[in-house]
Amino acid sequence: MYGGITGFWDYGPMGTLLKQNLKNVWWKTMVQLRDDVVGMDSAIIMNPAVWEASGHTQAFADPLVECKVCHKRFRADKEEEINAHKKEHNINEFEKLHGELWTDPKQFNLLTEVYLGVTEPKQKAYLRGEITQGVFVNFQNVVDSTRVKIPFGIAQVGKAFRNEITPGNFTFRTREFEQMEMEYFIKPDEAEGEKWFSYWKEERMKWYQSLGIKSENLRLRDHRDDERAHYARKATDIEYQAPFGWSEFEGIHHRGDWDLGRHKRTYRDPQTGETYTPWVIETSGGVDRAMLFFLLEAYTKEEKRIVLKLHPLLAPTTVAVFPLVANKPELAEKARSVYNLLKTDYQTGWDDRGNIGKRYLAQDETGTPFCITIDFTTLEDGTVTIRFRDTAKQERIPVDKLSEIIRVHLKEDFI
Ligand code: GAP
Repeated sequence: MYGGITGFWDYGPMGTLLKQNLKNVWWKTMVQLRDDVVGMDSAIIMNPAVWEASGHTQAFADPLVECKVCHKRFRADKEEEINAHKKEHNINEFEKLHGELWTDPKQFNLLTEVYLGVTEPKQKAYLRGEITQGVFVNFQNVVDSTRVKIPFGIAQVGKAFRNEITPGNFTFRTREFEQMEMEYFIKPDEAEGEKWFSYWKEERMKWYQSLGIKSENLRLRDHRDDERAHYARKATDIEYQAPFGWSEFEGIHHRGDWDLGRHKRTYRDPQTGETYTPWVIETSGGVDRAMLFFLLEAYTKEEKRIVLKLHPLLAPTTVAVFPLVANKPELAEKARSVYNLLKTDYQTGWDDRGNIGKRYLAQDETGTPFCITIDFTTLEDGTVTIRFRDTAKQERIPVDKLSEIIRVHLKEDFI
């Protein structure tokens, strides 16, 4: 309506469901199914002293170069974008007259400032640039209030904000985005660091593969020394082969004792009494980037249809119910009762428009893995047709087995 604002996106009903499912599956894998990880939820705005201590007010910056002709700014490490931009100007002519097209790289801080209070002077604070610091400042509270023992992790999902100068590629680089992160606390020991850094790289790669990303579209890329964040001893990105090139969607970081050291937190081993500053191995994924890549991976054009082959646990609608025809009250009533039965367990869709073929195609496009049709045979023998999205195969099954059959399929599909 107002033209939007660069770097901010809204999700509609389908996108919201997909995003919620993605976060739920992440939480299940990283918290519910693990005995060594607990979850938490920290505030978006924290005492600004947190960002001083963590080094973000000084070092959380991107080096940017500026085009001397049109004054557009680019991240200095994005060679492809820089080269593509050069083609927009008659560079040879410019360089003959004025020399180099680009300015030297300058550092731009990414923290987003906010001002709190109603009277002047207002208090300057920051929207969190990573959700991570909320975990570190609550480290002691978690140790004191739960039974965690090193090695253990604290997981969190939530919004982060960055004053990105060059947002772009849809939801790939935005100014408001969501992260799903886990900080794993270990003994400060090189061998332990190596072990857990490798372990988490492998676990996270497996997770994306188990949810349908083909291994040829995934790779690990180690950061060069000059690109690592200020807090990282080591960093490896999980990258996806996107149409705009290999792109990061999760970072695995060996943060050493950077954060807990800065916040002056220690851990006392309950058995030995030894006190030390734990090291941290972090898995930091972007919800919006992962969503974009799952969508790209799932989008399939077949001869007669477009199918979004999302993993069934991610699909916005798990099952859709149709009465064969809309104008037969007894069919509609039966279909409604099946719909009401399923919706207590699954996100369930309803469609009674047009013909069945068109309804199947519409559900294929939004990735619904199971469609159920109620027809005249249902009224006679209590069976329905279940149709599977990927194969378009149909089977006749009893209504009272429906929920269980879907559950079995979902479980079989889970990691
Ligand atoms: N706590 C560590 C951390 O924040 P990061 O590599 O800066 O590390 C982690 O970010 C993940 O957050 C990235 O892999 C990406 O998926 C997501 N992310 C970072 N900046 C983003 C942005 N501007 N837009 C969308 N997602 C972003």
